[in-house]
Order: sequence, then structure tokens, then C-alpha cells
Amino acid sequence: MKPIFSHVGIVGVGAMGRGIAQIAAQAGSTVLLFDLQAETARVAQTSVFSQWDRLCEKGRLDAAQTALYKSRLHCADSLAALSGSDLIVEAIVERLDVKASLFAELEALVAPSTVLVTNTSSLSVTAIAARLKRPQQFAGFHFFNPVPLMKVVEVVAGLKTGASVCADLTAYARQMGHTPVLAQDTPGFIVNHAGRGYGTEALRVVSEGVADFATIDRILKDQIGFKLGPFELMDLTALDVSHPVMESIYHQYFEEPRYRPSVITAQRLAGGVVGKKVGEGFYRYDKGVAQTEPEPAAPSVDQMPPVWVSPRAARRADLLLLLKNLGARIETGATPSAQALTLVAPLGFDITTVAVVERLDPARTIGIDMLVDDAVSKRRVLATNPATRLDMRNAAHALMARDGKAVSVIRDSGGFVSQRVVATIVNIACDICQQGICSPADLETAVTLGLGYPLGPLAMGNLYGPTNILEVLFNMQTVYGDPRYRPSPWLRRRGAIGLSLLHQEA
Ligand code: NAI
Repeated sequence: MKPIFSHVGIVGVGAMGRGIAQIAAQAGSTVLLFDLQAETARVAQTSVFSQWDRLCEKGRLDAAQTALYKSRLHCADSLAALSGSDLIVEAIVERLDVKASLFAELEALVAPSTVLVTNTSSLSVTAIAARLKRPQQFAGFHFFNPVPLMKVVEVVAGLKTGASVCADLTAYARQMGHTPVLAQDTPGFIVNHAGRGYGTEALRVVSEGVADFATIDRILKDQIGFKLGPFELMDLTALDVSHPVMESIYHQYFEEPRYRPSVITAQRLAGGVVGKKVGEGFYRYDKGVAQTEPEPAAPSVDQMPPVWVSPRAARRADLLLLLKNLGARIETGATPSAQALTLVAPLGFDITTVAVVERLDPARTIGIDMLVDDAVSKRRVLATNPATRLDMRNAAHALMARDGKAVSVIRDSGGFVSQRVVATIVNIACDICQQGICSPADLETAVTLGLGYPLGPLAMGNLYGPTNILEVLFNMQTVYGDPRYRPSPWLRRRGAIGLSLLHQEA
């Protein structure tokens, strides 16, 4: 099939430029590589050639195909050599002034029909195009690292980008074997915007002393199914990359509280404790392997007390069934007996508040997170309040570990770890829909392919229940009085127009 763009120029062939060059040549385009450092273009060409050689050795490409791909990839020794391109992709240093002058220079060289695109991840496409004579021919084309493996690309429409340009880029992305998603030109576009919830809320949990980072990683992997915990992810990405992104999106949204970064990462960045690549981040690394402390074993308890469950517990029937299966002696009275371990299962409220409101003895009150269906979760999470007695804490831990399932016990917090992080992710996703940054379907695609989440954020909201997510947020807002937990209007309206988060309004 003939490629939409038969001649493609790439300016800046570092990590990103060479990946884009590879998939452009694979799509059938003739590709010219240009870099400020003359030697870099050759290095990039050699590097892409060796990628193809490796695919050929593995039998994923045949010799003829490899030779054909190689014949399409050339080095240019001047910017002027790119003048015959139908498409020029820029992947140079992330600076507005440098990018804007490069495009002014390119625009003077190329035909009026040439499409110019930037791979910027944090700058405004509209701002880069501001000085151009033909801003309608300019767009964002945001790939992810490593380009050949990360199969999603954001096609970003600036204020003046022509619709046909977006349509051509979308079709070309498909020819390159990638999935295009259409984004409005807003800070972080889709993926880096939607990704704000995971790390920032986890950092906030740590900053409140609710749980340490290793416990939070375990909870989010075992309960929600994330491949990496937020702290493992930050160690992998490295804080010198991720903290500036957190700051940039926060400031670009004029200090929107939902995106507020954490002093924890600012301080660690200042101290150079940035992640795996330097051997120390949230974890210490020995030969690239994170060193973790073993989890505390479940305590042994001689005399298991009877258990009473609050009538207001979330998923109360499921909780009672779980207790029965674990062999608990369940009390059925209207109030707990004097010996009873008292279980509450709030959504968004802290255990202290629940004990006070329900007139329960806080010394015997423990919370359990019932947002996630126990049958599909690999871990149970309990929370104490400051008055919880050690024997009650131990009894609850031992009881919940009876069938061998992992148990974490955390401190009191408005919302359990998974509730807080999931509700924050879903809320930010709903706000992206509210702002019309992209379609709900593209949001789901972008997040699953770009961030590797187990589900798109809207599907995640559906799974745990939009009304449950709303309840978590409303209650957290009450507990913390913090505007970052105010539910997006798009999420609030799901109460009226149906529970499917993908449901479109008329
Ligand atoms: P890099 O540092 O690996 O490569 C940049 C290349 O551009 C270098 O080879 C440099 O010599 C060249 N260069 C710099 N100024 C130039 C100029 N005026 N003219 C021609 N060449 C010039 O950087 P990387 O990581 O490839 O990033 C490039 C762009 O892609 C940046 O805008 C970055 O924000 C964006 N991006 C990076 C991602 C990543 O994970 N690395 C992901 C998505 C976007």
C-alpha cells in the first residue's frame, strides 16, 4: 500500500527520532535523517539497521524485506536536503524557542502542502506554531519511548491545525502499525495528563504516613492489577524525568489541585535519589534488582474473638460470606458485644470518623477495604484507627490471612489505598472527558497502550462502580476538605444518565 507520506524527514534523531524513522520506513516511506550533530544521523541509521538485522535473525523479517527497509533510510547533511519531504517530524531538544525557530526555517524550505509535526511531550503545539505562516499544516505527533514497541501515538490538534492534516496523520499512524488517538492541544495531551493520578495520590498516601511505599506498591498490584506499583514505576522512569512533568502539568493548569506534585519527589530529585538508573530510588537496587524487606507474617492468635459487622459496610453481604468462609464466629446483634472485633468497610471515610458516627468502640474497630471484589483480589487491606488495640489488630490480621491470602494493615486514612488511587485516576479521566480533550474511547485506548494500565480509567470506574467512586470522592472531600477530591461534573452526571462511564451525553 502506498504510504500517505512518501517522503518523510526526521529532524533530531536521538532516542525518539530514530524510532519514528524505523516505523516510517517500515510503512513504505523514504526517510531522511537529520541531526545537529552530523555523526548522530549515521549512528541513528546504524542503530535502526541493527534493529532490522536482529528482527531478521529472529525470523520476524526476511532478508528481502530487511534490504528493502534499509534502502529507504538515508542520512541528510543539511536541513535543506529535507525540502522535498511531504512530512517532517521534529524530535529535537524540548525547548519552545529552539523548536519554533526550527519550524520557521523549515517552513521557508518546504512546499506549502508539506505537513510539519512536533513530537513534543510537554510544550503547547499552538505556541510552537504561533510564528508560522501556515499553522494549518502543523500538528503534534506524540510518540512514546521505545517507539516501535509503544503502539500508540497522539495526534494533537493545535488551535489552527487543519482537519485534513489530522486525518492524514491518523491514517499514516495506522500504516506505521500504530494506534492513533486524537487529542486537543492541552497540557500533557491525553496520556501524560491521565497518568497524573497514579503517582501523585500514592505519594500523598505516603506523605500522610498511612503506609510505606513498598506496601502501597503491593496493594495496587495485588488488588487492582497494575503491572508496576507507582513507586516501582517512578524508579523506572526516574524522578529527573517524572517530577518535572508533574510540576509542568500542575503549573500549566494554573495550579489545579488535582495535579499538585509532592515535596517527596522534589526532595529526592534534589538529593539525586532518582531511581533505578542510579541504583537508588524509592528502592535500593543491587545489580538492577530492587531490594525489599519481607512482609510481616500474619500473627498467631490463640483466642479469636467473635466478629460484628457494621450494617453500613460496603458489600456487606460479600463481607459476611467471606467471614463465614474464614470460619469466623459472626455476631448478629444490633450492636457488638463487649468482646467483639468490630469491622467497618467505609468508602472514602476514615475508620475514626466511622467509629465516632456509628458510636462504636474505636479500640475494637478495624476497617476493611471492600471496594474490590475479594474473589478477584490477591490481597486484603485492613486499616486501624489510632485507638485500635493490638489484640484486635492481630485478630483481624490472623482471621483475614486464614486462607493464605496476603494481608496488609495500614493506618487510618480517608479512603483505603486502592480507593484513593482508583478514584483519583477515574476522576481525572472524567475531567479529561469533561474538557473534551479527546473522546472517551480514545482516552481508554491511550491509557491502556500508553500507560499499560490493566483497564482504561473509564472501564476501571465501571468495574468498581461509578456510584462507589463518587462516594469515595465525596467522603474524601469531607475528610480532607481538599478540592483535589471534588468529583468532576462528568462523573457526577453519571448518576443521572446511567452508570456506564462510556455513555455519551446527548
Ligand atoms: P534525545 O536527546 O535523545 O535526542 C534529541 C536529538 O536532537 C539529539 O540527537 C540532538 O543532537 C538533536 N538536536 C537538538 N537540537 C537540534 C536542532 N536544533 N536541530 C537538529 N537536531 C537537534 O531526545 P529524545 O528523548 O529523543 O526527545 C526528543 C523529543 O521528543 C523531545 O521534544 C522530547 O520531549 C520528546 N519526547 C521524548 C520522549 C522520551 O521518552 N524520550 C517521549 C515522547 C516525546
